[in-house]
Amino acid sequence: MIPTNSENHHQNAIEENKKHFNKDMVKLYDRHSIELSGAHYILTKLLLGFDPVNFHPKLDHSNDKDSESLGDRNLPVFGYSNKDFYVPDYENPKNSNLLFNPNKSFNVLDFACGTGLVSQLMVQNIGKNSKYVGIDISDDALELFNEKCKHLSESGYNIQSYNLDIVSENFDSSLVRENDFDVVLCTLGYHHFHDLDKVTHRLSTFLKKDGWLIIIDIHSKDLDSYKIEDFNKPKIEKQTSGSVQHIGGLPYNQIKNSFNLSGNLKNYKIYLSDSFWTYMHSGFMANHSPKHILEMLKNDLLESIKFDGSINYLIPQDYIVAAAQKV
Ligand SMILES: C[S@@+](CC[C@H](N)C(=O)[O-])C[C@H]1O[C@@H](n2cnc3c(N)ncnc32)[C@H](O)[C@@H]1O
Repeated sequence: MIPTNSENHHQNAIEENKKHFNKDMVKLYDRHSIELSGAHYILTKLLLGFDPVNFHPKLDHSNDKDSESLGDRNLPVFGYSNKDFYVPDYENPKNSNLLFNPNKSFNVLDFACGTGLVSQLMVQNIGKNSKYVGIDISDDALELFNEKCKHLSESGYNIQSYNLDIVSENFDSSLVRENDFDVVLCTLGYHHFHDLDKVTHRLSTFLKKDGWLIIIDIHSKDLDSYKIEDFNKPKIEKQTSGSVQHIGGLPYNQIKNSFNLSGNLKNYKIYLSDSFWTYMHSGFMANHSPKHILEMLKNDLLESIKFDGSINYLIPQDYIVAAAQKV
């Protein structure tokens, strides 16, 4: 059969991502998060803090955000690695409705799990009888995932990882089953996928009834209004690979539409996280930052430091958190 245009784009995106997330890149990605940006602690905080019943109104998409960004700029990784920061206080009654809980077990599918930065933190903060499955298309990322999770598997946690293309006709459904997961999560993966609607629908098929799909990604309200070419080189290094399919992150409506189109999701919760301080690698600025940050970069208004031989910019960042429940 001749592949359709969309299948070609999908295959191309996968190939670009395989190429991009090679051995060197995944090592850099890991070290950058662990030693500099602390992004995986923020992602874990947002996941563990996900409350399907009550939302802090300030986190709602329609409300103004706090002007202060989270994080102490004088501490390593802004203080995010402190467990008191990213693990909720379960004794506090305000946390009684959180989805995740160390006393409950879950089947979790971590899609585009990468090197397992978030996975290893999540596994240790849910019940020990949980099943945690990571899927990615980069063998090099999965090698680090397996290294990181080895000691957890040896101490009794059920963690598996697979290199699979979930939308492929050759998908092996004996490895990862449909209607089997309480939670499907995807952190910082969506902007790398070509067809978000297809991926969203496919991810929903792995959920049990009433299970939650939780997507966290970079976000930009002004996606339609800027072009990378508007900004002066060489300060902005345009990433030449096609691994990022949605430059600048995901707009609110695009995620909402893909929930609508999936046909089997309900109860949408889409909101912006609080803003937090982080460092972004200069090579990622053009493809991952909204217009106002690129304006600041252009006008030399961003602080920077050198890490691993590269420039990294100090920026206030927020994420979009989008969740929906299987019908
Ligand atoms: C920015 S990393 C995020 C990794 C991890 N979720 C995290 O939060 O640290 C994006 C990941 O998406 C993976 N990826 C890209 N396209 C994919 C696809 N179609 N299916 C599965 N994984 C994919 C890449 O290999 C990479 O590991």
